[in-house]
Amino acid sequence: MQSPTRKRLLEAFTEANGEFLSGQALADILGCSRTAIWKHIEELRKEGFELEAVRKKGYRIVSTEDRVSENEIRLGLNTKFLGHSIHYLDSTDSTQKVAHKLSQEGCPEGTIVIAEEQKNGRGRLTRHWYSPKYTGVWMSIVLRPNLSPQKAPQFTLIAAIAVVQAIEELTNVLPEIKWPNDILINGKKVTGILTELQADVDKIDSIIIGIGINVNQQLSDFPDELQSIATSLAIESGRKITRAKLIQCILMKIEKYYHVYLEKGFAPLKILWESYAISIGKEIIARTVTGEIAGRAIGITNEGILKIEDDAGIIHEIYSADIEI
Ligand code: BTN
Repeated sequence: MQSPTRKRLLEAFTEANGEFLSGQALADILGCSRTAIWKHIEELRKEGFELEAVRKKGYRIVSTEDRVSENEIRLGLNTKFLGHSIHYLDSTDSTQKVAHKLSQEGCPEGTIVIAEEQKNGRGRLTRHWYSPKYTGVWMSIVLRPNLSPQKAPQFTLIAAIAVVQAIEELTNVLPEIKWPNDILINGKKVTGILTELQADVDKIDSIIIGIGINVNQQLSDFPDELQSIATSLAIESGRKITRAKLIQCILMKIEKYYHVYLEKGFAPLKILWESYAISIGKEIIARTVTGEIAGRAIGITNEGILKIEDDAGIIHEIYSADIEI
């Protein structure tokens, strides 16, 4: 974790928006000596920030490496609580696993865990999630809504809306959502979302939303078996995307829609989600653990459960499945 002074220093640079800040101005803002400022600047340099120092002008941040460290995320993050506690790991098994542990230890709502690589990334239905170093967003978010566990699937859909909008904002490419958690571009998967719970029978203790986004991989970077089904934002937009900016944008949107949800319920978000969904209105096959259901996807329930009408007119509610369109 970062010292409060370094956090404040980064906030000051964010507010300065690339302009120089004199050593004295920084000392006044932070209420410490200019020597202390210099020491903090050196620490930031060690953490990978490129800081320019010019006599009589002061300091400014020139550029940053493409890392998703605590500093990179914090610089420019404009949220009220989400991402205020950041656990950054160069490498880990799974950010979900770390987030579960932190949650059990009582971490604050809005804590996020981010890794540069996952050695054992978890997908839905116990699948592996390919998470190579420095190319993607591998992040888990801890929320603690005061709700019943039945509401949990809605959070996958809320996260999906936030990710779709953030991708569109940063790349101008408009992705689509395949219920419940796949985000696709041109029919290939760019993002997966895994929502897990710590809960009693009637109350959620925490929801852990795991988001995996393929960002800067080229096609040849994917293993052979993924090349026909996976894609990345760089492939689809033709340019490299700054992962930290993408994370910030997602966090701001999740926070915004979380507040909408807490104030107005799921109804307005359901409409928004349906506007990005590809499966609704189409003939689909849902492969569940108990068998296959074929029919027309007619929408989602207020809980976020998929409704399929089969040829006999029977409506099936699907909680978890692989969808074939
Ligand atoms: C899926 O589509 O099957 C869901 C994939 C979720 C992957 C993310 S990456 C960050 C977080 N940590 C994990 O181990 N899994 C999720």
